Amino acid sequence: MKALVIGGGGREHAIVWKLMQSRHVDKVYCMPGNAGIAEIAECIDVHSLDFNKLVDFVRYEWVDLTIVGPEGPLSGGIVDAFEREGRRIVGSTKMATQLESSKVFAKEFMKRYRIPTAEYKVFTSYIHAEEYVRMKGLPIVIKADGLAAGKGVFVASRAEEVVDALRLVMKERIFGDAGNRVIVEQYLEGEEVSFMAFTDGSTIIPMVSSQDYKRVFDNDEGPNTGGMGAYSPAPVITRELESIIMERIMRPAISGLKAMGIKYKGVLYAGLIIDNGNPYVLEFNCRFGDPEAQSILSRLNTDIMDISMAITDERLSDINIEWSDEAAVCVVLASEGYPGKYKRGKVIHGLNDVRDMDDVVVFHAGTAFNDNEIITKGGRVLGVTATGKDINGAKERSYEAVKRIHFEGMHYRKDIANKALNRQ
Ligand SMILES: Nc1ncnc2c1ncn2[C@@H]1O[C@H](COP(=O)(O)OP(=O)(O)O)[C@@H](O)[C@H]1O
Ligand SMILES: [Mg+2]
Repeated sequence: MKALVIGGGGREHAIVWKLMQSRHVDKVYCMPGNAGIAEIAECIDVHSLDFNKLVDFVRYEWVDLTIVGPEGPLSGGIVDAFEREGRRIVGSTKMATQLESSKVFAKEFMKRYRIPTAEYKVFTSYIHAEEYVRMKGLPIVIKADGLAAGKGVFVASRAEEVVDALRLVMKERIFGDAGNRVIVEQYLEGEEVSFMAFTDGSTIIPMVSSQDYKRVFDNDEGPNTGGMGAYSPAPVITRELESIIMERIMRPAISGLKAMGIKYKGVLYAGLIIDNGNPYVLEFNCRFGDPEAQSILSRLNTDIMDISMAITDERLSDINIEWSDEAAVCVVLASEGYPGKYKRGKVIHGLNDVRDMDDVVVFHAGTAFNDNEIITKGGRVLGVTATGKDINGAKERSYEAVKRIHFEGMHYRKDIANKALNRQ
C-alpha cells in the first residue's frame, strides 16, 4: 500500500518512520516533509491547504491512506475534502477540529458535558475583560479564541501582564480574527501532562503516557515553545489516574461530540493539569502532540497502518494496540534565538555519527538540503530520540547522541525526563 503524510516536522517524521516499518506499506509520500523525511520517503511539493490538488495527487498516485500531522489542514477541512471524494484519511473533520481551533467552542463544550476545566468567561470587549480580571484577581490566564501557533495564551501574575495581553490580542490584534474573542480563565495549580488516545468515533484507546517540556530553558524557565522535549512513560499518570482521565474526560468528549452529531476520528489529545489526583483540561488538540509523538511512537509495537485502517473503517474495537515496555526520551535541538526570531541556514554536523547508534533515531523538524549538506530551516531543528530499558537509560542514550550533533547557535534543555526521575 501507499501512504501520504501531511506535514514536515518531527511528529511527521516519526509517523513516516512508523509507516515505513508497516508490513502493508511499500511507499510513503510526505507533503512537504524535510531533509530527514526525504531519506525514507518521497517529499512532494503541494500546498497543504490546496485540498483539490492533494486529492488529485492521491488519486493519480493510488495512495491508499493519508495521515494528517498538524492542526492547520485539519481546521481548514482537509478531512472533509478527502472524505467527499471517498479517500481514506486519518484526522478530524473541520467541525470536530473546532475542539482545538476554537478555545471558546472547547470551553462551552466542556461546560455542557461537565468535563472538568478551569472556570472562565468569554469577552469581546476589552473593558469588560479588564473589569473581570480586576474582580477575579491574579494570577489569571488570558487566551485568544482561535489558532495562534501556540502563542495565544498568556499566564499573567502581574497587572501589567494582563493589560499587555489584552492590548496585544484585542486592540493590536496580533492574531487577527483569532483574537475576536478572548477567554479569561482561572489559573490552575498542579502538574501539567499530555494524554492522547486513538478513536474511531466510538471506541477510544489510550496511548501510553507522556510529558513534554514547553519552556525554553532548564527548570521550566523562559518563554513557552512548541516543545523542547518529551519522555514516555510519565509516572505521574498512574493506572488509576489513567482510568479517571478516560472516564471524566476522554469518553465524555467523544460521546459529547457524537451527541452533537459530530463523529470524531483520529487522535484526541488532552492537555491536562493534575491537581491532587484530579485532572482538569487546559485544552484539546485534534492530533498528536509534537514532540510527544516522537517518544510515544518510538514505543508503538502495533503496525501503525493497522491502527489507521481500523480508525478510518470504524472498527478500532477489533484491534489490540501494543506498546514496548521500554522508555523513550526525545531531546529537541533548537536554533539560536528560538522561540523568538531565530537564525537559519546553519550547517548541521554529526548526523552521520549518530546514524548507526543503537536505540537512537534523530527525527528532523526544521531541516533542508543545501547541496550535499543538511542545514537548519526552522526553530526546532531535530528531535533526538532514544529508547532504553528505563527512563534513565533512554535519557543517557539520548544525550550521548546529542553530544555528537552540532550546528552554530544550537541550544537544548539538559533536564528532559528529570521530572520522571525525581519521582522515583
Ligand atoms: N488555566 C490555566 N492555568 C495554568 N496554566 C495554564 C492554564 N491554561 C494554560 N496554561 C499554560 O499555558 C500553556 C498554553 O496553554 P494551552 O491552553 O495549552 O494553549 P496553546 O497550546 O494553544 O498555546 C499550557 O501549556 C499551560 O502551561
Ligand atoms: Mg497547549
